[in-house]
Amino acid sequence: MKNIVILISGGGSNMAAIVKAAEREHWQDQYGARVAAVLSNKADAKGLVFARERGIATAVLDHKAYDSREAFDAAMITAIDAHQPTLVVLAGFMRILTPGFVAHYAGRLLNIHPSLLPAFPGLHTHRRAIEAGCKFAGATVHQVTAELDHGPILAQAVVPVLPDDDEHTLAARVLTQEHQIYPRAISELLRRL
Ligand code: GAR
Repeated sequence: MKNIVILISGGGSNMAAIVKAAEREHWQDQYGARVAAVLSNKADAKGLVFARERGIATAVLDHKAYDSREAFDAAMITAIDAHQPTLVVLAGFMRILTPGFVAHYAGRLLNIHPSLLPAFPGLHTHRRAIEAGCKFAGATVHQVTAELDHGPILAQAVVPVLPDDDEHTLAARVLTQEHQIYPRAISELLRRL
């Protein structure tokens, strides 16, 4: 079984889109793959409710309970590896990862970022895109490397930036596209694995 472990910090709408695609497209039969677990660094992450309702294993590791980034990431590795993951999928997981964590999952760690990378790595991507006068924005699915919001690009979606947009309306337009490209990028990877 190819186990997918998804890491979230909040709403988990990308995670939900992946879980729904896995069901709708029968990833278990097609690729021998399933979403095995959803992990969060926040106990109140809304996405955990969705995962639990679907009968997916969940775990919460509060980063504030650890003395260092290294200690937190080591605990995350233990919790993730308990599910023997083929893919580790960051879906709105708002923690900077240590090089050791990234190296441990080299080649099987994916992220989605709400900009057209390499433009606007980091936070507040939509606000920065509007302030820069961008006419287009979007989202990027990429392999994770040691450098924040970098790594080989697997998929991108482009949306227009409209004259009346604020960061919330633009974020909503981009998020709709994220829900399309992330499941698609994962299923394409699973097909090749
Ligand atoms: C998404 O827009 C995702 O691209 C972004 O957080 C949101 C999570 O939404 N990720 C980052 O900014 C990572 N740097 P979700 O919890 O509803 O999937």
